[in-house]
Amino acid sequence: SNLSLLILPGDGIGPEVMTQVERVIDWLGDQRGLKFDVSRDLVGGAAYDEHGVPLADETMAKAQEVDAVLLGAVGGPAYDNLDFSVKPERGLLRLRKEMDLFSNLRPAQCFDALSDFSSLKKEVISGLDIMIVRELTSGVYFGEPRGIQDDNEGGRVGVNTQRYTTNEIRRVARSAFELARRRSNKVCSMEKANVMESGILWREEVSWVHENEYPDVELSHMYADNGAMQLVRAPKQFDVIVTDNLFGDILSDCAAMLTGSLGMLPSASLGAPMENGRPKALYEPVHGSAPDITGQGKANPIACILSLAMALRYSFDQGEEAARIEKAVEKVLADGVRTGDLMGPDGGTPVSTSGMGDAILDALSES
Ligand code: NAI
Ligand code: MG
Repeated sequence: SNLSLLILPGDGIGPEVMTQVERVIDWLGDQRGLKFDVSRDLVGGAAYDEHGVPLADETMAKAQEVDAVLLGAVGGPAYDNLDFSVKPERGLLRLRKEMDLFSNLRPAQCFDALSDFSSLKKEVISGLDIMIVRELTSGVYFGEPRGIQDDNEGGRVGVNTQRYTTNEIRRVARSAFELARRRSNKVCSMEKANVMESGILWREEVSWVHENEYPDVELSHMYADNGAMQLVRAPKQFDVIVTDNLFGDILSDCAAMLTGSLGMLPSASLGAPMENGRPKALYEPVHGSAPDITGQGKANPIACILSLAMALRYSFDQGEEAARIEKAVEKVLADGVRTGDLMGPDGGTPVSTSGMGDAILDALSES
C-alpha cells in the first residue's frame, strides 16, 4: 500500500527547504519505486493568514490519519505580535499534543567532512552517532501545580512541578529500547535520582522495562549533570540516551552542537502505535524559520532532507533508502559542497538551497 505523508512547509525558509525534500521524494518514486500519497497543507503563520488559526481542524484531522507528518518551520516577525492563542508555534504545539507525541528523537551525528566545525577535537567526535530520546509530553513543563503566587511575606514564589507516572516513564523507555535494538543495543538513562523523587521512580521504571521486556539490551544509568559532562568529554561512549523533558531539552541541544550547524539537524517525535502498527509520527528539522535569510536561497535543506530519511526509517521501514539519503549527504559534504551556514570565515563560494538539492540528487543518482 502507498505510504501516506502530510507535508506542512510552514513559514520562512520552511517552504524553501521543503521544495528540495519534495525533489527527493519524487526521486524515490521514480527511481526506487517508493510510492507516496503526498498531501500538502498549511501550518503556523501561513495557516493563520488563510484561516485565522495556526492549524485548521481539517489539517489536524489529516495529521491523525497519515503515516507521517513532515513539517518545515513555523513563525516569523510578521506574527510576533499576534495573540498568544493564535501564534504560529501553537500550531506545532497542537500537533504534538493531540497526536500525543511523547518520544522525541534527536540524533547527533558527525559527518567527517564537517568535523572541523565542532569546537571539540576531531578524535572526540569523528564517527559520532548517538540518539537522544527526550520525553516530550510530561514532566516539569506541564506538571501541576504551577504559577506565580504571593508568598505571604511580601514576596512572590514561582512554582513548577516535576511529575512523572509509571506509564509515562515506561512508554518512553520502550521507545528507547526499541531504537537501541536497531542500533548498537545500548541505552543510558539519565536523571537525578540522587536528589529527585521523580528521578528515583524514573530509574526504577526504566529498570523494570529493561528486566521484563528488553533484557537483551545493555542498560546503564547516569546522573544527568555527569551526563552533560560525559557528552562533551567522550560522547562516543553512548548509543541511545533516554531522559526526561527538561534534561532532554538541555542535553539534546548540547549534543546537537557537538556536530555543527543547525541547518544539519533532523528530529522525529513519535507517539503510540496506530492500527497499522506504525507510530504516530512528526518529523521536522530542529531549526526555525530563519527570517534573516528567508527568500534569499541561502537555507541549508539538509536538516529537512535528513528528517525525511528518519521518516523512511521509523515510519516506513525503509532503512535502506534512509541510509542511501544519508550517504548522499555525506558524499556532497565530502566533495566540499557547502551552503553558507557550513562555511568557515575563510570558506569559498556557497551553493544555494537548490544547488545543495541538485548536488544531493546527483549523489543519489550515482548511488
Ligand atoms: P532559527 O533556527 O530560525 O535561526 C537561528 C539562526 O540559524 C539564524 O541565523 C538562521 O539564519 C540560521 N539557520 C537556521 N536554520 C538554517 C538553515 N536551514 N540553513 C541555514 N541557516 C539556518 O531560530 P530563531 O532565529 O531563534 O527563530 C526564528 C523564528 O523561527 C522565530 O519565529 C521562532 O519562533 C521560530 N522557530 C521555529 C521553530 C520550529 O518551527 N520548530 C524552532 C525554532 C524557532
Ligand atoms: Mg531546547
